Amino acid sequence: MAKKEGLGWIEWARGWGSIVGEFLFQRIVASHVDNPLPIPPMDGATCIVTGATSGIGLEIARQLAESGAHVVMAVRRPKSAHDLIQKWQSEKGDMGILLNIEVMELDLLSLESVVKFAEAFNALQAPLHALINNAGIFSIGEPQRISKDGYEEHMQVNHLAPTLLSMLLIPSLLRGSPSRIINVSSVMHFVGFVDSEDMNMTSGKTKYSSMLAYSNSKLAQIKFSSMLHKRIPPEANISVVCVNPGIVHTNVARDLPKVIVAGYHLIPYFIFSAQEGSRSSLFAASDPQVPEYCQVLKGDEWPTCALINYDCRPTNASEEAHNLETTRQVWDKTLELIGLPGDALEKLISGEEVACQYQTQNASVDN
Ligand SMILES: NC(=O)c1ccc[n+]([C@@H]2O[C@H](COP(=O)([O-])OP(=O)(O)OC[C@H]3O[C@@H](n4cnc5c(N)ncnc54)[C@H](OP(=O)(O)O)[C@@H]3O)[C@@H](O)[C@H]2O)c1
Repeated sequence: MAKKEGLGWIEWARGWGSIVGEFLFQRIVASHVDNPLPIPPMDGATCIVTGATSGIGLEIARQLAESGAHVVMAVRRPKSAHDLIQKWQSEKGDMGILLNIEVMELDLLSLESVVKFAEAFNALQAPLHALINNAGIFSIGEPQRISKDGYEEHMQVNHLAPTLLSMLLIPSLLRGSPSRIINVSSVMHFVGFVDSEDMNMTSGKTKYSSMLAYSNSKLAQIKFSSMLHKRIPPEANISVVCVNPGIVHTNVARDLPKVIVAGYHLIPYFIFSAQEGSRSSLFAASDPQVPEYCQVLKGDEWPTCALINYDCRPTNASEEAHNLETTRQVWDKTLELIGLPGDALEKLISGEEVACQYQTQNASVDN
């Protein structure tokens, strides 16, 4: 739990206060929210859910489909997704409900896979109403790993690749406008700090730990989302929302040491089920007032994007998430790392094609 470079002691201690507070009180704070969350009919809406084979994403995909949405499960293990669809369909078939779900392959550890996915989806010329960037990793206690693209893996899977996906899918999101980009964030962003000159954490300035890497990636995601929210013109009607699902019992804990996992199972009272953890994302994807709330936030002098908490109410991101200077740096650096020009958003909004020219980085770590 070492304090991180770049974050003041008070902010860091406050951040840990928020994490512990969430763990202890989330069930009480969210006690007014029904489980499952009632969702309005979603017929006619197309939603992409990344990481829909496990945990929160699986619940988001299932419930959206059961509400009538056309769901695209964007996953790295298509076979598992097909097995799930078969199971859900056989459960619902008796009631005469035909789920409208399909599977498309997406591996966020490969920017090439992201580009291919976006090209294939955009080629359908179909409207996209909600992109839910849910897939994420938290390789707890694992040594630092660099993707084949040359990026620290938490930063790539949790921030860079979903950001590239959001940007490249803007043509489809415009077709589906009013539409939403929903990014599944975490309370851990409170203890993150992003050094845009060292997003891989390989320079030696900051000692790597999986917890820091995860927290930093989630903060980078909120910072980029805030700039995106601010820069998308109101008439484009694409809302950018981050959500905090709470502390949820999913496969995310699979890398924890066995003794901690055992403890995790002993404290079910405090920890949300995956269905409970899916409520903030489902709320962000379906509540009719979310776009209006996002438009109001645009008027703030320096807003962050909307952040919907695990109790389905708006909440505040960390103080560092509001830091305009580092947020601009994260915006610029992210675009550079994913190979998009600085004016990519403006071009995509005006219907121009934008080439993605990321370059594989020569990064390595000594483990
Ligand atoms: N659980 C919590 O307490 C908690 C708290 C705050 C935020 N979150 C966030 O919630 C989101 C969902 O996590 P979860 O808790 O539901 O964990 P999970 O059960 O481990 O699910 C993560 C999903 O992401 C997918 N994924 C991982 N790497 C991928 C890659 N390279 N390409 C494509 N998909 C990939 C996984 O695919 P496979 O099924 O193939 O492994 C899985 O479907 C994450 O963004 C996480 O950071 C979770």
